[in-house]
Amino acid sequence: MDHFALKDGVLHAENVPLPQIAREVGTPVYVYSRATLERHARVFREALDEVPDKLIAFAVKSNPNLAVLKVLQNQGYGADVVSVGEMRRALAAGIAPEMIVFSGVGKTRREMIEALEAGIGQFNIESEEEGLELAEIAEGMGLTADCALRINPDVDAGTHDKISTGKGDNKFGVPIDQAGQIFGKLASQKGVNLRGVAVHIGSQLADITPLESAFAKLGELIAGLRGAGHTITHVDLGGGLGVPYRKGEVLPSPAEYGAMVACVTKDWGVKLIFEPGRVIAGNAGVLLTEVVRVKRGLNNPFVIVDAAMNDLARPALYGAYHHFEAVTPTGESMIANIVGPICETGDTFARDRQCDLVKSGDLAVFRTAGAYGATMASSYNSRGFVAETLVDGDKFAVVADRVGADSFINAERVPDWLE
Ligand code: LLP
Repeated sequence: MDHFALKDGVLHAENVPLPQIAREVGTPVYVYSRATLERHARVFREALDEVPDKLIAFAVKSNPNLAVLKVLQNQGYGADVVSVGEMRRALAAGIAPEMIVFSGVGKTRREMIEALEAGIGQFNIESEEEGLELAEIAEGMGLTADCALRINPDVDAGTHDKISTGKGDNKFGVPIDQAGQIFGKLASQKGVNLRGVAVHIGSQLADITPLESAFAKLGELIAGLRGAGHTITHVDLGGGLGVPYRKGEVLPSPAEYGAMVACVTKDWGVKLIFEPGRVIAGNAGVLLTEVVRVKRGLNNPFVIVDAAMNDLARPALYGAYHHFEAVTPTGESMIANIVGPICETGDTFARDRQCDLVKSGDLAVFRTAGAYGATMASSYNSRGFVAETLVDGDKFAVVADRVGADSFINAERVPDWLE
Protein backbone atom coordinates (compact mmCIF):
# COMPACT_ATOMS: atom_id res chain seq x y z
CA MET A 1 0.00 0.00 0.00
CA ASP A 2 1.31 3.43 -0.88
CA HIS A 3 0.21 7.04 -0.56
CA PHE A 4 0.14 8.01 -4.25
CA ALA A 5 -3.48 8.31 -5.35
CA LEU A 6 -5.89 10.34 -7.44
CA LYS A 7 -7.76 13.07 -5.59
CA ASP A 8 -10.27 15.13 -7.60
CA GLY A 9 -8.80 13.64 -10.76
CA VAL A 10 -5.21 14.67 -9.97
CA LEU A 11 -2.45 12.33 -8.80
CA HIS A 12 -1.23 13.30 -5.33
CA ALA A 13 1.65 12.20 -3.16
CA GLU A 14 -0.10 12.12 0.22
CA ASN A 15 -1.90 15.51 0.18
CA VAL A 16 0.37 17.25 -2.28
CA PRO A 17 -0.81 17.47 -5.91
CA LEU A 18 2.05 16.41 -8.17
CA PRO A 19 1.55 19.41 -10.54
CA GLN A 20 2.53 21.64 -7.61
CA ILE A 21 5.88 19.85 -7.27
CA ALA A 22 6.43 20.02 -11.04
CA ARG A 23 5.67 23.76 -10.99
CA GLU A 24 7.91 24.55 -8.04
CA VAL A 25 10.83 22.17 -8.66
CA GLY A 26 10.59 21.37 -12.37
CA THR A 27 10.71 17.96 -14.04
CA PRO A 28 11.96 15.31 -14.08
CA VAL A 29 11.88 14.96 -10.31
CA TYR A 30 11.76 12.07 -7.87
CA VAL A 31 8.95 12.28 -5.32
CA TYR A 32 9.13 10.17 -2.14
CA SER A 33 6.34 9.76 0.41
CA ARG A 34 7.29 9.79 4.08
CA ALA A 35 4.05 8.08 5.13
CA THR A 36 4.72 5.25 2.67
CA LEU A 37 8.31 4.78 3.84
CA GLU A 38 7.12 4.69 7.43
CA ARG A 39 4.32 2.30 6.64
CA HIS A 40 6.66 -0.11 4.86
CA ALA A 41 9.20 0.14 7.67
CA ARG A 42 6.51 -0.64 10.24
CA VAL A 43 4.96 -3.51 8.26
CA PHE A 44 8.36 -5.13 7.74
CA ARG A 45 9.27 -4.73 11.42
CA GLU A 46 5.91 -6.10 12.59
CA ALA A 47 6.29 -9.07 10.24
CA LEU A 48 9.36 -9.98 12.30
CA ASP A 49 7.68 -9.62 15.69
CA GLU A 50 8.32 -13.32 16.36
CA VAL A 51 12.06 -12.80 16.00
CA PRO A 52 13.20 -11.85 19.50
CA ASP A 53 16.61 -10.30 18.83
CA LYS A 54 17.13 -8.44 15.56
CA LEU A 55 18.59 -5.50 13.69
CA ILE A 56 16.88 -4.24 10.55
CA ALA A 57 19.56 -2.55 8.48
CA PHE A 58 18.12 -0.66 5.50
CA ALA A 59 20.05 -1.39 2.29
CA VAL A 60 21.35 2.12 1.64
CA LYS A 61 22.16 1.29 -1.99
CA SER A 62 18.44 1.16 -2.77
CA ASN A 63 17.89 4.78 -1.77
CA PRO A 64 20.78 6.64 -0.15
CA ASN A 65 19.06 10.03 0.13
CA LEU A 66 19.82 11.54 3.54
CA ALA A 67 16.20 12.45 4.24
CA VAL A 68 15.07 8.91 3.40
CA LEU A 69 17.75 7.50 5.71
CA LYS A 70 16.59 9.90 8.44
CA VAL A 71 12.99 8.68 8.14
CA LEU A 72 14.22 5.11 8.57
CA GLN A 73 16.59 6.00 11.41
CA ASN A 74 13.55 7.41 13.21
CA GLN A 75 11.91 4.03 12.69
CA GLY A 76 14.77 2.32 14.53
CA TYR A 77 16.47 1.05 11.39
CA GLY A 78 20.22 0.58 11.02
CA ALA A 79 22.03 0.54 7.68
CA ASP A 80 23.55 -2.02 5.34
CA VAL A 81 26.31 -0.24 3.40
CA VAL A 82 28.62 -1.33 0.60
CA SER A 83 31.05 1.58 0.49
CA VAL A 84 32.36 4.22 2.86
CA GLY A 85 30.35 6.73 0.84
CA GLU A 86 27.21 4.91 1.97
CA MET A 87 28.61 4.60 5.49
CA ARG A 88 29.16 8.35 5.67
CA ARG A 89 25.58 8.91 4.56
CA ALA A 90 24.24 6.56 7.21
CA LEU A 91 26.30 8.32 9.89
CA ALA A 92 25.24 11.73 8.59
CA ALA A 93 21.60 10.65 8.92
CA GLY A 94 22.24 9.89 12.59
CA ILE A 95 22.36 6.10 12.35
CA ALA A 96 24.50 4.78 15.22
CA PRO A 97 27.78 3.20 14.01
CA GLU A 98 27.00 -0.04 15.84
CA MET A 99 23.84 -0.36 13.71
CA ILE A 100 25.85 -0.30 10.47
CA VAL A 101 26.79 -3.48 8.60
CA PHE A 102 29.40 -3.27 5.83
CA SER A 103 28.91 -5.76 2.98
CA GLY A 104 30.54 -5.89 -0.45
CA VAL A 105 33.15 -7.95 -2.31
CA GLY A 106 35.57 -5.12 -2.95
CA LYS A 107 36.16 -3.27 0.31
CA THR A 108 39.46 -1.45 -0.07
CA ARG A 109 42.07 -1.12 2.70
CA ARG A 110 41.23 2.55 2.99
CA GLU A 111 37.54 1.74 3.38
CA MET A 112 38.27 -0.88 6.03
CA ILE A 113 40.33 1.64 8.01
CA GLU A 114 37.63 4.30 7.83
CA ALA A 115 34.93 1.83 8.88
CA LEU A 116 37.08 0.56 11.77
CA GLU A 117 37.71 4.14 12.88
CA ALA A 118 33.97 4.82 12.76
CA GLY A 119 33.34 1.76 14.93
CA ILE A 120 30.71 0.11 12.74
CA GLY A 121 28.77 -2.88 14.07
CA GLN A 122 29.77 -5.63 11.66
CA PHE A 123 31.81 -6.40 8.58
CA ASN A 124 30.37 -9.06 6.32
CA ILE A 125 33.52 -10.68 4.98
CA GLU A 126 33.17 -12.01 1.45
CA SER A 127 36.36 -14.08 1.10
CA GLU A 128 39.24 -15.60 3.00
CA GLU A 129 41.55 -13.05 1.38
CA GLU A 130 39.42 -10.14 2.59
CA GLY A 131 39.15 -11.60 6.10
CA LEU A 132 42.93 -11.96 6.43
CA GLU A 133 43.45 -8.41 5.21
CA LEU A 134 40.87 -6.98 7.60
CA ALA A 135 42.36 -8.95 10.51
CA GLU A 136 45.81 -7.58 9.76
CA ILE A 137 44.56 -3.98 9.45
CA ALA A 138 42.42 -4.16 12.62
CA GLU A 139 45.23 -5.73 14.61
CA GLY A 140 47.58 -3.03 13.42
CA MET A 141 45.12 -0.44 14.72
CA GLY A 142 44.81 -2.25 18.04
CA LEU A 143 41.19 -3.11 17.29
CA THR A 144 39.06 -6.21 16.88
CA ALA A 145 36.51 -6.13 14.06
CA ASP A 146 33.18 -7.87 14.67
CA CYS A 147 32.55 -9.96 11.57
CA ALA A 148 30.31 -12.45 9.84
CA LEU A 149 31.38 -14.64 6.95
CA ARG A 150 29.18 -14.29 3.88
CA ILE A 151 28.20 -17.66 2.53
CA ASN A 152 27.35 -18.40 -1.08
CA PRO A 153 24.71 -21.12 -0.63
CA ASP A 154 24.51 -22.00 -4.35
CA VAL A 155 20.78 -21.37 -4.55
CA ASP A 156 19.03 -19.99 -7.62
CA ALA A 157 16.93 -17.05 -6.47
CA GLY A 158 14.84 -17.26 -9.65
CA THR A 159 15.30 -13.56 -10.36
CA HIS A 160 16.96 -11.55 -13.14
CA ASP A 161 20.51 -12.83 -13.76
CA LYS A 162 22.05 -9.41 -13.15
CA ILE A 163 20.64 -9.20 -9.63
CA SER A 164 21.09 -12.81 -8.59
CA THR A 165 23.88 -13.19 -6.02
CA GLY A 166 23.64 -16.64 -4.44
CA LYS A 167 24.52 -19.00 -7.28
CA GLY A 168 27.79 -20.87 -6.97
CA ASP A 169 29.46 -18.97 -9.78
CA ASN A 170 28.37 -15.51 -8.59
CA LYS A 171 31.16 -13.38 -7.13
CA PHE A 172 29.62 -13.11 -3.67
CA GLY A 173 30.57 -14.90 -0.45
CA VAL A 174 32.50 -18.13 0.05
CA PRO A 175 31.28 -21.48 -1.30
CA ILE A 176 29.20 -23.20 1.36
CA ASP A 177 31.22 -26.42 1.12
CA GLN A 178 34.43 -24.51 1.98
CA ALA A 179 32.79 -22.33 4.63
CA GLY A 180 33.77 -24.50 7.62
CA GLN A 181 37.43 -24.51 6.71
CA ILE A 182 37.57 -20.77 5.88
CA PHE A 183 35.63 -19.93 9.04
CA GLY A 184 38.12 -21.91 11.11
CA LYS A 185 41.08 -20.13 9.57
CA LEU A 186 39.60 -16.63 9.99
CA ALA A 187 38.29 -17.30 13.50
CA SER A 188 41.85 -17.88 14.67
CA GLN A 189 43.00 -14.41 13.50
CA LYS A 190 43.57 -11.86 16.23
CA GLY A 191 42.10 -8.75 14.57
CA VAL A 192 38.68 -10.23 13.96
CA ASN A 193 35.90 -11.52 16.14
CA LEU A 194 34.19 -13.88 13.71
CA ARG A 195 30.83 -14.30 15.34
CA GLY A 196 28.43 -15.29 12.60
CA VAL A 197 27.47 -15.88 9.00
CA ALA A 198 25.64 -13.87 6.36
CA VAL A 199 23.73 -14.63 3.19
CA HIS A 200 21.99 -12.61 0.44
CA ILE A 201 20.90 -14.53 -2.63
CA GLY A 202 19.42 -11.82 -4.83
CA SER A 203 16.90 -9.04 -5.23
CA GLN A 204 13.27 -8.71 -6.38
CA LEU A 205 12.49 -12.29 -5.33
CA ALA A 206 8.98 -13.25 -6.38
CA ASP A 207 9.04 -16.47 -4.37
CA ILE A 208 10.39 -17.06 -0.87
CA THR A 209 11.19 -20.75 -1.43
CA PRO A 210 14.79 -20.07 -2.56
CA LEU A 211 15.28 -17.90 0.54
CA GLU A 212 13.93 -20.70 2.69
CA SER A 213 16.35 -23.22 1.16
CA ALA A 214 19.27 -20.82 1.60
CA PHE A 215 18.34 -20.23 5.26
CA ALA A 216 17.93 -23.96 5.85
CA LYS A 217 21.42 -24.58 4.42
CA LEU A 218 22.71 -21.84 6.70
CA GLY A 219 21.04 -23.57 9.67
CA GLU A 220 22.97 -26.77 8.91
CA LEU A 221 26.18 -24.82 8.52
CA ILE A 222 25.65 -23.08 11.88
CA ALA A 223 25.15 -26.46 13.58
CA GLY A 224 28.34 -27.71 11.95
CA LEU A 225 30.32 -24.64 12.99
CA ARG A 226 29.08 -24.94 16.54
CA GLY A 227 29.95 -28.62 16.49
CA ALA A 228 33.48 -27.60 15.55
CA GLY A 229 33.64 -25.40 18.62
CA HIS A 230 32.83 -22.00 17.12
CA THR A 231 30.52 -19.50 18.81
CA ILE A 232 27.81 -18.17 16.52
CA THR A 233 25.83 -15.23 17.88
CA HIS A 234 24.87 -13.23 14.76
CA VAL A 235 23.31 -14.25 11.46
CA ASP A 236 22.62 -11.80 8.63
CA LEU A 237 19.82 -12.93 6.32
CA GLY A 238 20.25 -10.14 3.74
CA GLY A 239 17.39 -8.58 1.80
CA GLY A 240 15.74 -9.51 -1.45
CA LEU A 241 11.98 -9.49 -0.93
CA GLY A 242 10.31 -8.40 -4.16
CA VAL A 243 7.63 -5.74 -4.65
CA PRO A 244 4.77 -5.43 -7.15
CA TYR A 245 5.69 -3.29 -10.17
CA ARG A 246 2.51 -4.05 -12.12
CA LYS A 247 -1.03 -3.24 -11.07
CA GLY A 248 -2.58 -6.29 -9.46
CA GLU A 249 0.70 -8.21 -9.23
CA VAL A 250 0.87 -10.24 -6.01
CA LEU A 251 4.19 -10.97 -4.31
CA PRO A 252 5.01 -12.73 -1.07
CA SER A 253 4.11 -10.38 1.76
CA PRO A 254 6.47 -9.34 4.56
CA ALA A 255 4.17 -11.36 6.85
CA GLU A 256 4.75 -14.56 4.84
CA TYR A 257 8.47 -13.85 4.80
CA GLY A 258 8.49 -13.18 8.55
CA ALA A 259 6.59 -16.38 9.32
CA MET A 260 9.03 -18.41 7.19
CA VAL A 261 12.04 -16.77 8.89
CA ALA A 262 10.61 -17.33 12.37
CA CYS A 263 10.01 -20.99 11.55
CA VAL A 264 13.40 -21.74 9.96
CA THR A 265 15.44 -19.86 12.58
CA LYS A 266 13.50 -20.69 15.76
CA ASP A 267 16.25 -22.79 17.34
CA TRP A 268 19.21 -20.76 16.18
CA GLY A 269 19.55 -18.64 19.34
CA VAL A 270 21.22 -15.75 17.54
CA LYS A 271 20.66 -12.08 16.79
CA LEU A 272 19.26 -11.86 13.26
CA ILE A 273 20.16 -9.04 10.90
CA PHE A 274 17.97 -8.10 7.93
CA GLU A 275 18.93 -5.90 4.99
CA PRO A 276 15.72 -4.91 3.19
CA GLY A 277 15.95 -2.24 0.51
CA ARG A 278 13.37 -2.41 -2.26
CA VAL A 279 10.51 -3.61 -0.06
CA ILE A 280 10.89 -0.45 2.05
CA ALA A 281 11.63 2.17 -0.60
CA GLY A 282 10.39 0.81 -3.96
CA ASN A 283 6.77 1.84 -3.86
CA ALA A 284 7.51 4.89 -1.72
CA GLY A 285 8.71 6.88 -4.73
CA VAL A 286 7.73 7.93 -8.24
CA LEU A 287 9.63 9.67 -11.01
CA LEU A 288 7.57 12.65 -12.15
CA THR A 289 8.13 13.60 -15.76
CA GLU A 290 6.66 15.85 -18.45
CA VAL A 291 5.75 14.73 -21.93
CA VAL A 292 7.99 16.69 -24.33
CA ARG A 293 6.03 15.66 -27.40
CA VAL A 294 4.26 12.77 -29.02
CA LYS A 295 5.81 11.68 -32.31
CA ARG A 296 4.18 9.49 -34.94
CA GLY A 297 5.74 6.03 -35.20
CA LEU A 298 5.64 3.36 -37.87
CA ASN A 299 3.18 1.48 -35.73
CA ASN A 300 2.51 3.04 -32.36
CA PRO A 301 3.39 6.62 -31.46
CA PHE A 302 6.44 7.56 -29.40
CA VAL A 303 5.66 9.40 -26.19
CA ILE A 304 8.89 11.31 -25.56
CA VAL A 305 9.20 12.27 -21.90
CA ASP A 306 11.80 14.52 -20.27
CA ALA A 307 13.08 11.69 -18.03
CA ALA A 308 15.56 9.25 -19.52
CA MET A 309 17.58 6.12 -18.92
CA ASN A 310 20.21 8.16 -17.07
CA ASP A 311 17.55 9.13 -14.47
CA LEU A 312 15.88 5.72 -14.16
CA ALA A 313 18.15 3.02 -15.53
CA ARG A 314 16.16 -0.10 -14.65
CA PRO A 315 14.17 -0.50 -17.89
CA ALA A 316 17.28 -0.07 -20.06
CA LEU A 317 19.45 -2.22 -17.80
CA TYR A 318 17.15 -5.09 -16.88
CA GLY A 319 14.17 -4.66 -19.19
CA ALA A 320 12.31 -3.77 -15.99
CA TYR A 321 8.65 -2.74 -16.00
CA HIS A 322 7.67 0.57 -14.39
CA HIS A 323 4.00 1.49 -14.49
CA PHE A 324 3.41 4.72 -16.47
CA GLU A 325 0.48 6.83 -15.39
CA ALA A 326 -0.87 10.27 -16.28
CA VAL A 327 -1.04 12.78 -13.43
CA THR A 328 -4.42 14.04 -14.67
CA PRO A 329 -5.86 11.03 -16.51
CA THR A 330 -8.75 11.60 -18.90
CA GLY A 331 -9.95 8.01 -18.72
CA GLU A 332 -8.85 7.43 -22.32
CA SER A 333 -5.92 5.19 -23.14
CA MET A 334 -3.42 4.70 -25.95
CA ILE A 335 -0.84 2.18 -27.06
CA ALA A 336 2.54 3.85 -27.19
CA ASN A 337 6.29 3.51 -26.96
CA ILE A 338 7.44 5.55 -24.00
CA VAL A 339 10.94 6.85 -24.55
CA GLY A 340 13.42 9.37 -23.19
CA PRO A 341 15.46 11.91 -25.18
CA ILE A 342 18.81 10.07 -24.97
CA CYS A 343 20.49 9.13 -28.20
CA GLU A 344 20.18 5.40 -28.10
CA THR A 345 17.32 3.03 -28.67
CA GLY A 346 17.94 1.52 -25.23
CA ASP A 347 16.45 4.71 -23.78
CA THR A 348 13.02 3.11 -23.89
CA PHE A 349 10.83 2.83 -20.82
CA ALA A 350 8.11 0.77 -22.50
CA ARG A 351 7.33 -0.66 -25.92
CA ASP A 352 3.80 -1.00 -27.26
CA ARG A 353 2.43 -0.25 -23.81
CA GLN A 354 -1.30 0.25 -23.21
CA CYS A 355 -1.27 3.36 -21.03
CA ASP A 356 -3.14 6.54 -20.15
CA LEU A 357 -3.60 8.90 -23.07
CA VAL A 358 -1.07 11.72 -22.80
CA LYS A 359 -0.12 14.66 -25.00
CA SER A 360 2.67 17.22 -25.14
CA GLY A 361 2.98 19.16 -21.87
CA ASP A 362 1.15 16.57 -19.76
CA LEU A 363 2.66 15.29 -16.53
CA ALA A 364 3.06 11.57 -15.87
CA VAL A 365 4.84 9.32 -13.43
CA PHE A 366 6.85 6.14 -13.48
CA ARG A 367 5.79 4.23 -10.39
CA THR A 368 7.89 2.13 -8.03
CA ALA A 369 10.91 4.34 -8.54
CA GLY A 370 11.80 4.82 -4.88
CA ALA A 371 14.36 2.00 -4.90
CA TYR A 372 17.23 1.74 -7.39
CA GLY A 373 16.01 4.93 -9.09
CA ALA A 374 17.90 8.16 -8.37
CA THR A 375 20.72 6.14 -6.82
CA MET A 376 21.58 4.56 -10.17
CA ALA A 377 21.54 7.81 -12.13
CA SER A 378 24.35 8.80 -14.46
CA SER A 379 25.05 12.06 -16.23
CA TYR A 380 24.99 10.50 -19.70
CA ASN A 381 24.26 12.95 -22.51
CA SER A 382 25.32 15.67 -20.00
CA ARG A 383 21.86 15.63 -18.47
CA GLY A 384 22.97 15.96 -14.82
CA PHE A 385 21.05 14.51 -11.88
CA VAL A 386 17.39 15.17 -11.26
CA ALA A 387 16.08 16.70 -8.02
CA GLU A 388 14.53 14.59 -5.26
CA THR A 389 11.65 15.65 -3.01
CA LEU A 390 10.06 14.22 0.11
CA VAL A 391 6.36 14.71 0.80
CA ASP A 392 4.97 14.71 4.32
CA GLY A 393 1.21 15.22 4.54
CA ASP A 394 0.44 18.49 2.81
CA LYS A 395 4.01 19.77 2.65
CA PHE A 396 7.09 18.77 0.71
CA ALA A 397 10.79 19.60 0.66
CA VAL A 398 13.52 19.34 -1.95
CA VAL A 399 15.82 16.73 -0.40
CA ALA A 400 18.37 16.67 -3.23
CA ASP A 401 19.04 19.59 -5.54
CA ARG A 402 19.04 19.17 -9.25
CA VAL A 403 22.67 18.89 -10.38
CA GLY A 404 23.02 20.56 -13.74
CA ALA A 405 25.56 19.99 -16.48
CA ASP A 406 27.53 23.01 -15.22
CA SER A 407 28.53 21.19 -12.05
CA PHE A 408 30.17 18.52 -14.16
CA ILE A 409 31.73 21.02 -16.55
CA ASN A 410 33.17 22.94 -13.59
CA ALA A 411 34.79 19.75 -12.27
CA GLU A 412 36.64 19.23 -15.55
CA ARG A 413 39.88 20.82 -16.75
CA VAL A 414 41.51 21.41 -20.10
CA PRO A 415 45.28 21.16 -19.38
CA ASP A 416 47.45 24.12 -20.42
CA TRP A 417 49.33 22.02 -22.93
CA LEU A 418 46.16 21.59 -24.96
CA GLU A 419 45.67 25.34 -25.36
N1 LLP B 1 21.98 -6.89 1.05
C1 LLP B 1 22.90 -7.09 0.08
C2 LLP B 1 24.19 -7.70 0.44
C3 LLP B 1 22.62 -6.72 -1.24
O1 LLP B 1 23.53 -6.92 -2.18
C4 LLP B 1 21.36 -6.13 -1.56
C5 LLP B 1 21.04 -5.73 -2.91
C6 LLP B 1 20.44 -5.93 -0.51
C7 LLP B 1 20.78 -6.33 0.79
C8 LLP B 1 19.09 -5.31 -0.71
O2 LLP B 1 18.29 -6.08 -1.54
P1 LLP B 1 16.74 -5.71 -1.74
O3 LLP B 1 16.05 -5.93 -0.43
O4 LLP B 1 16.65 -4.29 -2.17
O5 LLP B 1 16.30 -6.63 -2.81
N2 LLP B 1 19.84 -2.44 -9.04
C9 LLP B 1 19.03 -3.63 -8.98
C10 LLP B 1 19.02 -4.27 -7.63
C11 LLP B 1 20.39 -4.64 -7.11
C12 LLP B 1 20.39 -5.21 -5.73
C13 LLP B 1 21.77 -5.32 -5.21
N3 LLP B 1 21.87 -5.83 -3.89
C14 LLP B 1 17.61 -3.29 -9.45
O6 LLP B 1 17.36 -2.14 -9.81
O7 LLP B 1 16.76 -4.16 -9.52
